[in-house]
Amino acid sequence: MSQQLWGGRFSGATDALMRKFNDSIFFDIRLWEADLDGSMAYAKALARASVLTEEEADIIQDGLDEIRAEFSQRRFELKSGDEDIHSAVERRLGELIGDLAGKLHTGRSRNDQVATDTRLWLKRKLVVLREQLDTLQGVIVSQAITHLNVIMPGYTHLQQAQPVRFSHWLLSYAWMFQRDKERLDDLTQRVDVMPLGSGALSGNPFKIDRVFLAQALGFAALTANSMDAVSDRDYIAEFLSWAAITQLHLSRLAEDLIIYSSREFGFVELDDAYSTGSSLMPQKKNPDSLELIRGKTGRVVGSLTGLLTTLKGQPSTYNKDSQEDKEPLFDTVDTLGMTLPIAAGVIKTLKVNPGRIYDAMDSLMLATELADYLVDKGLPFREAHHLVGKIVQQAIAIDQPLYSFPLAAYKKFSDLFDRDVHERLTFNRAADRRDSLGGTSENAVKAQIELLRDLIEFDFDEEVAD
Ligand code: ARG
Repeated sequence: MSQQLWGGRFSGATDALMRKFNDSIFFDIRLWEADLDGSMAYAKALARASVLTEEEADIIQDGLDEIRAEFSQRRFELKSGDEDIHSAVERRLGELIGDLAGKLHTGRSRNDQVATDTRLWLKRKLVVLREQLDTLQGVIVSQAITHLNVIMPGYTHLQQAQPVRFSHWLLSYAWMFQRDKERLDDLTQRVDVMPLGSGALSGNPFKIDRVFLAQALGFAALTANSMDAVSDRDYIAEFLSWAAITQLHLSRLAEDLIIYSSREFGFVELDDAYSTGSSLMPQKKNPDSLELIRGKTGRVVGSLTGLLTTLKGQPSTYNKDSQEDKEPLFDTVDTLGMTLPIAAGVIKTLKVNPGRIYDAMDSLMLATELADYLVDKGLPFREAHHLVGKIVQQAIAIDQPLYSFPLAAYKKFSDLFDRDVHERLTFNRAADRRDSLGGTSENAVKAQIELLRDLIEFDFDEEVAD
């Protein structure tokens, strides 16, 4: 039987199923790089504290380098008894350099080790996710620039409300992703804190220089309480909340596009690259990319709920419950790592159909224009609203668009109507009149695009060129 890290005080063997239950190696093996980085830095710190001689530290580091090579060349072999990534690395180091390997764990616990590894691993993933958000925003803004002059129905309650620019609708998502980016930057500060040197729970007695360790590992700050340090999983809960909110935005974008790409709407068409067919109905082209984005929101929200439930009710410091933090974390990083670039691909290749959009525009969306017109002529808005309500009633009754009503017909409702009424009744005019900051007029949307371009790291020129 292979020796377990903690085997000394035990005389009986672990039950086979219990062993499987306890093992985390099958998922935490993903932490190998962070674990090796942590151990490299820790070996240096031990040498600085004279726990290891320089020579011993060198031998340990060479051993760790060899293990790194084994992992990166996919020839690291797991053995039964490798409980988790930390014990696997320690076991292998022993095989490579002998008993000296046993000194690396001086003053260190898997409790501060796993917390350090996970933070290091996540920090690196956050950089990638941030870039993916930038790209998604970038393709959104590019499409907004291309289709700046397409006017579409703006919806509330999924009922046509007022005309808006297609760009304005699409950019609304760029702002959601902007907030996601800001939240990501904010939570990164709390991920970027080093627990190493906290020991099992009470600190490190070997004069380990934690400031040196943090610098060596590239952490911006140190944890200030060892008991908190080994048990804190807030940064994972925060990350999962971030992911849930981001995924929610992706899901809403997907839902809009699923509706807009349906036969009944036909506002947009998904590229073949992001659609799939039906095994039975030859005509089908289904928006599976979007449905999966929408669908994966469930598992991300589930991971957040799962972790919060795992954390609730744990007594102080490390408990094995905390090992359950990794699968939801890994799954969520993987999920977002796919949904963000898929969404970017969908948007980048999206075909917009201005003809279908125009055909779908109901003239009743100009009712507010009529009311505003009467307001300009001096009528209080509430009266104008009521009066236009009557006009809308008639338009529906005789099935005539508002812009086809002759002036005489308008005059029957109010003497305030004049020859200039018809020029007010175009969708373009309605959109361009909304030129407040953040509105849907051409100028306001252009200003919005400029704001976003400053906030996004994306090569717009290259995008336009290809
Ligand atoms: N695999 C463990 C985890 O992920 C490492 C920490 C184990 N600590 C312990 N005291 N058993 O949480």
